Amino acid sequence: MATTITLLWAQDRSGAIGRANTIPWHVPEDMRRFRELTGTHPVVMGRKTWESLPDRFRPLPNRRNVVITRSAALDAAGAEIVHTLDDALELITGPVTVIGGGQIYEVAMTSATHLRVTEIDMLVESADTFAPEIDPYVWDTSDTGEWQTSSTGTRYRFVDYVRHALVRG
Ligand SMILES: NC(=O)c1ccc[n+]([C@@H]2O[C@H](COP(=O)([O-])OP(=O)(O)OC[C@H]3O[C@@H](n4cnc5c(N)ncnc54)[C@H](OP(=O)(O)O)[C@@H]3O)[C@@H](O)[C@H]2O)c1
Repeated sequence: MATTITLLWAQDRSGAIGRANTIPWHVPEDMRRFRELTGTHPVVMGRKTWESLPDRFRPLPNRRNVVITRSAALDAAGAEIVHTLDDALELITGPVTVIGGGQIYEVAMTSATHLRVTEIDMLVESADTFAPEIDPYVWDTSDTGEWQTSSTGTRYRFVDYVRHALVRG
């Protein structure tokens, strides 16, 4: 069974995370943080996020890739297929990172223990996928990073959250 369940995403100022099954910005520093934080731990994702990964990163290397789908016929070479989030969490021992997308974050918010959010200082036009609401009655901010400027010119910062119950017992 998964121990810590971290949801990891990047969002714009309106909470947008995606458009047309892509991530609508390029911030290599955030990609680097993604690699550092997910490490070799198992990752869980929805079928659409799996399909949005570039071929050369699918499956994400050196870790278990678990894909959630309602389909009985999904062909996802290199991934383990499950049909519910609970099945995914049962499959995994130790820390797990949920890496999207919008539908799966929404489902996973009730079991998540930690959120690691990259705030991207832009407003994406025609976004079609959004991060879940972070309820301040449920989540404490554990770390708010300084605003930084990417090599691509985009401003961003990292904000981490921990579920209240974990810090207050
Ligand atoms: N900015 C970020 O950090 C970030 C991170 C990840 C993804 N994204 C973006 O998010 C978008 C994709 O997100 P999305 O919300 O459209 O899709 P998603 O959450 O990646 O995947 C949705 C799919 O997951 C399966 N699913 C969802 N809920 C389920 C449930 N309760 N039980 C069983 N299966 C379930 C279904 O697959 P089937 O249809 O196969 O049944 C559904 O179509 C893309 O634009 C991607 O680039 C952004």
